[in-house]
Amino acid sequence: MPVRALWWEDGRLAFLDQRALPGRVRIVRTRHARTVASAIRTLAVRGAPTIGVAGAYGMVLAQREGRLGAKAAARLLGSTRPTAHDLFVGIATVQRAWESGDDPLAAANAYRDTVVEECHRIGEAGARLFRGSPKVLTHCNAGALATVEWGTALAPIRVAARRGAKPFVWVDETRPLLQGSRLTAWELEQEKIPYVVIADNAAGHFMSRGEVDAVIVGADRIARNGDFANKVGTYEKAVLAREHRIPFYVAAPWSTFDPQARTGASIPVEERDEEEVLRAGGTRVTPRKSRARNPAFDVTPSRFVTAFITPGGVIKPRAVAAALRRRAGRT
Ligand code: MRU
Repeated sequence: MPVRALWWEDGRLAFLDQRALPGRVRIVRTRHARTVASAIRTLAVRGAPTIGVAGAYGMVLAQREGRLGAKAAARLLGSTRPTAHDLFVGIATVQRAWESGDDPLAAANAYRDTVVEECHRIGEAGARLFRGSPKVLTHCNAGALATVEWGTALAPIRVAARRGAKPFVWVDETRPLLQGSRLTAWELEQEKIPYVVIADNAAGHFMSRGEVDAVIVGADRIARNGDFANKVGTYEKAVLAREHRIPFYVAAPWSTFDPQARTGASIPVEERDEEEVLRAGGTRVTPRKSRARNPAFDVTPSRFVTAFITPGGVIKPRAVAAALRRRAGRT
């Protein structure tokens, strides 16, 4: 069975509780928008495209519960996490249907289908970059768990492997919440794609020894000039890749591109609870009085990006603004 992060089932949103993985496959089913909001905030549901789809279904549940109006429901779901642009696209898509008397569930289903289809197209567009036996490094989790199905960064690797390539993946563990070692490793295992987990600090070591052929990551928000936010630690991987002349790819559906953000300076970066850093695997690892800072994302300047892998093909950072203008012209 391919991994699916969430689905609609008998009037409820069902989702994998990603906090329990890889130890336990725990499925939560809910009829409540508040439960969806809390799942997004606590990272039970996570990854930019997945939280966009969860936000869309959260709006459907809010409309059916009848306690909140469309604007209040959008505020509830939109206040959970600030960085992923997809969340706001998913919510706004269903809000429009709700306010204009259309069927919110039909709008949420169509939004989900678009995200899944775009991720599939990312896989098809990017697979040619991973022919042969490439050693590819990825950060965080940008697989099916983060995108409902397929993935963004993992989609081209998956498609390349299905076409006979033999990719190998370096999986950054991704402190503090270990999306790499818990989730990316779990997904690659399901797909039987070989990988090893490395401490986040080890990427430079393997790059300097010629053991990384390419880096590929997802994104939470991409500005018009190609600056982009992704899981904290992405920026330093991009700088290291440039130093070692390793191609650095960013894969994302259109919902991640923010036409309102001129540069990375206007991307809001979520700062999470310091407890996530003060603990490792649930255990306090610092002296009692230690404090911590915990930015969940960082912003990588577009000059470090070799290309974006989009549903419309592989494009250079300088082509992002024109691609967004073309898309705006079509809608
Ligand atoms: O805090 P998370 O786990 O939601 O962060 C997720 C990431 O940074 C992913 O790389 C990003 O959302 C791209 S997902 C296709």
